[in-house]
Amino acid sequence: MKNQYTSTTGYNSNETLSAGESPFVETDGLLLYKENCKTPEFLNSSSCITLFGESLIIDHFVLLFTDRETLTNYADTLVKYGAQITEGPGLWPDEFCSKLDALPQDISMYFLALLMPSGVILVLLAPHAPNDKLDILLSKRGVNAVHHVALRVNDIYAAAAAWQKKGFIPLSMTPQDDGCLCQWFLGNSAEQIIELIYRRCGGRETFSCPNIAGLRLSEGELTKIKHLSLR
Ligand SMILES: [Fe+2]
Repeated sequence: MKNQYTSTTGYNSNETLSAGESPFVETDGLLLYKENCKTPEFLNSSSCITLFGESLIIDHFVLLFTDRETLTNYADTLVKYGAQITEGPGLWPDEFCSKLDALPQDISMYFLALLMPSGVILVLLAPHAPNDKLDILLSKRGVNAVHHVALRVNDIYAAAAAWQKKGFIPLSMTPQDDGCLCQWFLGNSAEQIIELIYRRCGGRETFSCPNIAGLRLSEGELTKIKHLSLR
């Protein structure tokens, strides 16, 4: 059964959204996927959900896998369902961005993104090496961990202000904005990360190399002023 909501988090305050069941369970600010909600059918129908009390448009879900083989098997299932591969597969960011300097090796991960028939994007990730950042997150939170969830907005500053009232602090001083893709990551005290994303030019990319570079630079700024650091 669907309910009617009006978004107040910067998507479009005049638009009435019809929210479906969320694939997440939230405990003290931390999100986990419900075990039975990671099916193509469920995620395809979950582009509009209620999360932290707000009705939201999902830009992309991020799903974690323990290894490339499991990820590839799931991707095959999605393709049979009608999904189109939009980014990858490949080692992120190394095989996508050639001129990124001074990025730690332990952030690398196996990456594949697919566009579902409904328009929601699924990003599939698997660790690149033992004890890298993603491997540690999987050990800590399990395969139902929500690495981050990306929320599509039209006014990224208004959205960020609304999420700050919910305890989410921006992880960079300003949004990362390459002129087309504008992204802002925020985290709460449970270390749950959300991404606000504004697509000025449309498109289906879930990252850009200039935005990654900008994020790493601004992380340094943020660390200096003793705010949250990226994990
Ligand atoms: Fe993302």
